[in-house]
Amino acid sequence: MADRPPLRLGVLISGTGTNLQAIIDAIESGYLAAEIRIVISNRPDAYGLERAKRHRIPSLVIRNRDFSTREAFDTSLVAALRGQGVELVACAGFDRLLSNVMLDAFAQRVMNIHPALLPSFPGLHAQKAAFDHGVRFAGCTVFLVAPGVDDGPIVVQAVVPVLPDDDEERLTQRILAQEHRIYPYALRLYQEGRLEVQGRKVRVHGASEIDTALALVNPPLP
Ligand code: GRF
Repeated sequence: MADRPPLRLGVLISGTGTNLQAIIDAIESGYLAAEIRIVISNRPDAYGLERAKRHRIPSLVIRNRDFSTREAFDTSLVAALRGQGVELVACAGFDRLLSNVMLDAFAQRVMNIHPALLPSFPGLHAQKAAFDHGVRFAGCTVFLVAPGVDDGPIVVQAVVPVLPDDDEERLTQRILAQEHRIYPYALRLYQEGRLEVQGRKVRVHGASEIDTALALVNPPLP
């Protein structure tokens, strides 16, 4: 929505950063009215740091192994994010569980993406777990982080079919392509002020129910 200021984002990464890249591309294309104020990685070798540098986005490495507790690590993350005026934290391939230190500092303002249709297949290797279980449909979920593993109010989901000649990698890539669509879409809904958390559900304002349902299954391309 044009009358709202750009969203001040902080992005937490641990690895390849393809979701970070999708967010960068959505901003640079004008689809998402946001500014990434800082990218923080807990791993110094995360390729996502290269992506940030290439797009002249400030980045920082804060290694969880340098802290004796999750709370101390999160305190350092919160200080760095607040120092850059971040208003929404986007976890993008971030491999640490956040403590209440972060979730209290950014209450209902931490988003994450998971490569499964939550609440099914939380935790690590979700794509493999779904594939091994023999599901006919898999997908991905953007949610507002609440205490617990991959738990919290669901913002957007996308569904992909599992095909007869699939293997884990083909399915993972099919899901990843949808991740790169729904994360910018979820951030855009947030920036436009169209998300309202109601208990453990999220109401998306400004769209008819069917648009919301269809959009949430096949959101518009960035
Ligand atoms: C993605 O499947 C994401 O859902 C999961 O980690 C994978 C890699 O993400 N959390 P990225 O390429 O580092 O954004």
